[in-house]
Amino acid sequence: MNKKPLLKFAHISDLHFGKGNFGFSQFLSKRWLGNLNYLLFRRKHFLHDRIQKLTPLFNELNIENIIVSGDVSTTSLYKEFALAKDFTQILKEASKSVYVIPGNHDTYTRKTQKKNVFYQYFSPSFEKNSSKISSFNLKDHFVCAKKLEHGFWLIGMDTTIATNLYYSTGNFTQKIEENLKQLLDLIPKNEKVIVVNHFPFFFQDDKRRRLERGKSLENLLKNYPNVFLYVHGHTHKRSLVDLRHTNLPIILDSGSCSHKTQGSWNLIEIYDDHLEVSLFTWNIATDNWVLKEKEELPL
Ligand SMILES: [Fe+2]
Ligand SMILES: [Fe+2]
Repeated sequence: MNKKPLLKFAHISDLHFGKGNFGFSQFLSKRWLGNLNYLLFRRKHFLHDRIQKLTPLFNELNIENIIVSGDVSTTSLYKEFALAKDFTQILKEASKSVYVIPGNHDTYTRKTQKKNVFYQYFSPSFEKNSSKISSFNLKDHFVCAKKLEHGFWLIGMDTTIATNLYYSTGNFTQKIEENLKQLLDLIPKNEKVIVVNHFPFFFQDDKRRRLERGKSLENLLKNYPNVFLYVHGHTHKRSLVDLRHTNLPIILDSGSCSHKTQGSWNLIEIYDDHLEVSLFTWNIATDNWVLKEKEELPL
């Protein structure tokens, strides 16, 4: 068994940096509901001090790649994105590669969607070079890709849409489907792919929170067995589901790393013949992150 993994990365999600907006303008969109929710619940349920403790831990564990699967903000305010950007900047200054995609809270209103506010702070591409693959970007094509170490690929998706009050849905539109297919067709079939999207595509019972056309994404993934890992957030509940017996990938939800009672994130280490997933949770007694459990799956 190899001692050193071929690829190692941290998956964090749903940071939900919040600031609240108390001006009149909030009433011109659904933001007033997000602010009320922030004041009553989110401010108490999402603690951000612990996010700052991730960087020294990532250094200690020699983690160089960080995947952030969306909902970095609460209501897509500039000052919330600035806080999230500061955090990713600290990681980059510690020589980490950070890959950030948006969640529904980062496309909170029609105005933020129209102005592409998320992309004023975070790059729409994981990699910029002249190749055909890197011409795909999240802002225009809703998908992008980067070749990582040892022939592994990372594909990011933006399936967010501004929604009406009480809805936090995403949409895997026909356009995204076409682009994802084109992108996957450009990647050699013998090279393994990790897909990161904010929304899960299964367990779609709650129509107010689901990914529209999730079934189309599921059907597409069945045709690309080289997609072996699908990482997402949105539910704020950590989960690991191995769907390979149905020609689907291993599905990992890291949970929300800033959630007061269920704060968690995953360390993923990929070897030749197996995958190790370590779950880290927040420990109130030690006021720090602790390794709670480690699972191993054959590849
Ligand atoms: Fe969230
Ligand atoms: Fe979400």
